[in-house]
Amino acid sequence: MLEPRGDKKVLCAGLICLDILSVMDHYPVEDTDNRIKRQIWQKGGNCANSAAVVAQLDEQAEFFGTLATGRAADMVLDEMREFGVEVDHVVMHDGCDSPSSSIIINTSTGSRTIIHTDKDLPELTFSQFQQLDLNQYKWIHFEGRNMAEVSQMVNAVQEYNHSRSMEDKINISGECEKAKYKPEYFTSTVDVLFIAKEFAQHHGFSSAHAAVDGFHRRAKKGATVVCAWGEAGADVMGPDGVHHHSDAFSPGQVVDTLGAGDTFNGAIIAAMCRSLPLDEVLKFGCRVAGKKCGQFGYRGLG
Ligand code: FRU
Repeated sequence: MLEPRGDKKVLCAGLICLDILSVMDHYPVEDTDNRIKRQIWQKGGNCANSAAVVAQLDEQAEFFGTLATGRAADMVLDEMREFGVEVDHVVMHDGCDSPSSSIIINTSTGSRTIIHTDKDLPELTFSQFQQLDLNQYKWIHFEGRNMAEVSQMVNAVQEYNHSRSMEDKINISGECEKAKYKPEYFTSTVDVLFIAKEFAQHHGFSSAHAAVDGFHRRAKKGATVVCAWGEAGADVMGPDGVHHHSDAFSPGQVVDTLGAGDTFNGAIIAAMCRSLPLDEVLKFGCRVAGKKCGQFGYRGLG
């Protein structure tokens, strides 16, 4: 891994959306009229959430993605700025809608049921990515969606890295979560591979341990593979092939698990930027994700 470079940023490229949380103390029965305890409007999207966590953990963070001009976009961009995340390169589109999620949070279990709409907003393109000055970044984290474009972005960063000295190379991480986007391209190309439980299960793995072993064999030489498995904790295997496990950190009462995986990813990236040993990196990720599950939203995680 590279040494920390304070002057450079962590870029998270992927989804930002509006999340509307309906907080209940049970899960509603279909076709009934319910009252909720609380409604929360907040920014969402895996990469937006991870970027907000990275920023709170004292790394300079930037989010890169697309939004549709309008009130939803203004709201989520303001919130990102409040978290200290730079959003200057977000690509704005007119005449379409920003993505949003209606989410039922059941505080008795902490479960989150997401109903997402990505409507008609165009995804990030490679040519938009090419407008970025890569010299500003020490780490670029990609969400595994619109892979035809994202794979070109990863190639471009690898190309950039070829001609740089060790300390100027950009660490590349990729998140494989939703199988429908076929993010398998990441498994052999990125330096740090995040395998979500959902994706691991899709590939027939039934634990973080098995998933990390399996994907490490398919990963790029020298890569680190990380997998979180909810209350079962998380596992990691680094370039040396040594396996580490961390138990989950229970917050006492679980109230909101929305974005726990995104929080974990952001915390792992921030800890790796500080070149901590991998077992500590993993514990740190689990601790921050555990804290998140005991509260609503992503504030105060630093
Ligand atoms: C949580 C999340 C939410 C968003 C949804 C999109 O991981 O990013 O913030 O609504 O997933 O799938």
